[in-house]
Amino acid sequence: MSENSPRVVVITGAASGIGFATAELFRDAGDIVFGLDINDTVPEGVTYVECNVGDKAAVDAAIEVCAQHGRIDVLANVAGIVQFGRIETVTEEEWDRVHAVDLKGPFFLIQAALPHLRACRGNVVNVSSVAGNVAQPYATAYAAAKGGLTQLTKALALELSPEGIRVNAVCPGTVDTPIVAQVFHKLTDDLDKRVADRLMMMLPGGAISPKEIGEAIVYLAGARMATGTVLAVDGGMS
Ligand SMILES: NC(=O)c1ccc[n+]([C@@H]2O[C@H](COP(=O)([O-])OP(=O)(O)OC[C@H]3O[C@@H](n4cnc5c(N)ncnc54)[C@H](O)[C@@H]3O)[C@@H](O)[C@H]2O)c1
Repeated sequence: MSENSPRVVVITGAASGIGFATAELFRDAGDIVFGLDINDTVPEGVTYVECNVGDKAAVDAAIEVCAQHGRIDVLANVAGIVQFGRIETVTEEEWDRVHAVDLKGPFFLIQAALPHLRACRGNVVNVSSVAGNVAQPYATAYAAAKGGLTQLTKALALELSPEGIRVNAVCPGTVDTPIVAQVFHKLTDDLDKRVADRLMMMLPGGAISPKEIGEAIVYLAGARMATGTVLAVDGGMS
């Protein structure tokens, strides 16, 4: 691989929101981009690979497809689902689903991609959340999964640094994507309007856009000396 070869970039959750915007940015930079998702609405020019990230066998099969160039330069774990509700309402099925997508998924994606990351000293960017770093009520399963993902990022950065493989995370605040409408509906209807107001606390200038989070992901993917970095892009929420 020459210095000028396009990077091979694998992005989960590329069919919507932050993952979609991130895939567009890498594509526009001239990279070869694979978009893993359960939906096929990935940006034009991005190769869609069907994958439920909560299913280890599906993850292994999808990474095999993405490894056709003999390397993976960037793995961006963006796919995620939210959970909002009082503790009494969280079922075992909901707890398991949130952890499968938000925590187990990134772990098994990194594990499957590792030989191909090693081939080119690639790097990983995980999308965690402000909810994984500071307290937020009514989101127990989500906060636990995202807190786990933030900590997984730091532990793995240390473990893989001798091999030159970097692992970083971006922790968004409230970003204008379909996931958010779902959360606010629940908060304002059933739970606590004060929490909804706090989630909207951000710098003047309106909501954070998916592209602004994508730019942070692209930055960390290319930041030669950044590893174990947990980058908050949350308008000051944390
Ligand atoms: N939007 C926010 O305010 C916000 C804040 C903090 C963190 N995040 C995190 O950002 C990430 C992206 O969220 P978003 O706001 O763009 O949401 P989104 O709903 O717009 O996009 C999520 C994408 O993940 C995909 N997905 C869901 N389950 C999947 C599965 N099992 N396998 C594969 N793909 C799956 C969906 O199909 C969708 O394309 C998530 O990890 C989320 O937790 C979002």
